Amino acid sequence: MTEHRPMTEASPVKVPTLPDAQTITDVKHWTDRLFSFRCTRPASLRFRSGEFVMIGLMGDPDPKTGKQKPLLRAYSIASPSWDEELEFYSIKVQDGPLTSKLQHIQAGDEIILRPKPVGTLVHDALLPGKRIWFFATGTGFAPFASLLREPQTYEDYDEVIITHTCREAGELEYGAELIENLKHDELLNEVIGEGFWKKIKYYPTTTREESAKMGRITDLIRSGEAYADLGVDPINPDNDRAMICGNLAFNLELKAMLEEYGLEEGANSKPAQYVVEKAFLD
Ligand SMILES: Cc1cc2nc3c(=O)[nH]c(=O)nc-3n(C[C@H](O)[C@H](O)[C@H](O)COP(=O)(O)OP(=O)(O)OC[C@H]3O[C@@H](n4cnc5c(N)ncnc54)[C@H](O)[C@@H]3O)c2cc1C
Ligand SMILES: NC(=O)c1ccc[n+]([C@@H]2O[C@H](COP(=O)([O-])OP(=O)(O)OC[C@H]3O[C@@H](n4cnc5c(N)ncnc54)[C@H](OP(=O)(O)O)[C@@H]3O)[C@@H](O)[C@H]2O)c1
Repeated sequence: MTEHRPMTEASPVKVPTLPDAQTITDVKHWTDRLFSFRCTRPASLRFRSGEFVMIGLMGDPDPKTGKQKPLLRAYSIASPSWDEELEFYSIKVQDGPLTSKLQHIQAGDEIILRPKPVGTLVHDALLPGKRIWFFATGTGFAPFASLLREPQTYEDYDEVIITHTCREAGELEYGAELIENLKHDELLNEVIGEGFWKKIKYYPTTTREESAKMGRITDLIRSGEAYADLGVDPINPDNDRAMICGNLAFNLELKAMLEEYGLEEGANSKPAQYVVEKAFLD
């Protein structure tokens, strides 16, 4: 179940109005560990769908000097490059320096946003192909929330396969709702073409709670079950391109699998067949 929860806990540290301050316009809590929020977009910010920026709040005052420093973390921009606002999809780490506070933000509050987007999960880092795979675990879905709403994704590829592996079913809700909403998005259906979303094959799986499909995507691909479920041919370097975003072990395992299939890692400076980025450090 998704819900807009009233914010009853302590309010976050207010950010003094800085040149890099942006205003929160909407917050939605998906589980006790996950929330998404939207904020204003700096007029100067240009980014490519799939990139990340540094965002944060002012840290606590230094006990000796009383000075406050910005507490910033990397965040994938979950909204597409054409959106007039920005969206983020966030974890709530109980003792996390930033997210223990950030989880309390409400519409009207301010966050700090450094307008210097970077990242490897961009179409520019891939050579042309027929089918693109987006592989995510947990909040690693965020850059794909951007790319799934990016017209270029559908211009460049005949098929778009998005896999999302989480521990629990509730952790799939943000992605599931976003993909369902694409069907009814009048603007995207007009701009990209009516029924563009039919190119998407969505494959959500859970590992620690019962759901329609259980298992790690890596195991499901190895066994061939994922191909059978999706009704697609195995990955091959001629047709397939891939983007990976998840925890480190997942990234490394999938990277090794794609290399075995004959895909090579790309970069902005040298486009190839797949790209990878961490969803969080460690
Ligand atoms: C390139 C990049 C992009 C990122 N994009 C996002 C994003 O879009 N959304 C997001 O929520 N986080 C994202 N992160 C992680 C983010 O930068 C912070 O680590 C996170 O917001 C927690 O901050 P914190 O200060 O509360 O705790 P930290 O001190 O930063 O982290 C504490 C611990 O929490 C765990 N953790 C941190 N982030 C996550 C996560 N996302 N999922 C599960 N466990 C986590 C790790 O074990 C970490 O050691 C990204 C990180 C990188 C490197
Ligand atoms: N998710 C929760 O409910 C929860 C609750 C409290 C605390 N935490 C803590 O928060 C941190 C992050 O948890 P998270 O659930 O967001 O992220 P995570 O541990 O990275 O797991 C996300 C998903 O990725 C899968 N996965 C992990 N390694 C993989 C690999 N090599 N190949 C394929 N799939 C792989 C996991 O499967 P497996 O389940 O098989 O590992 C899980 O389904 C952890 O330190 C955790 O202890 C999580």
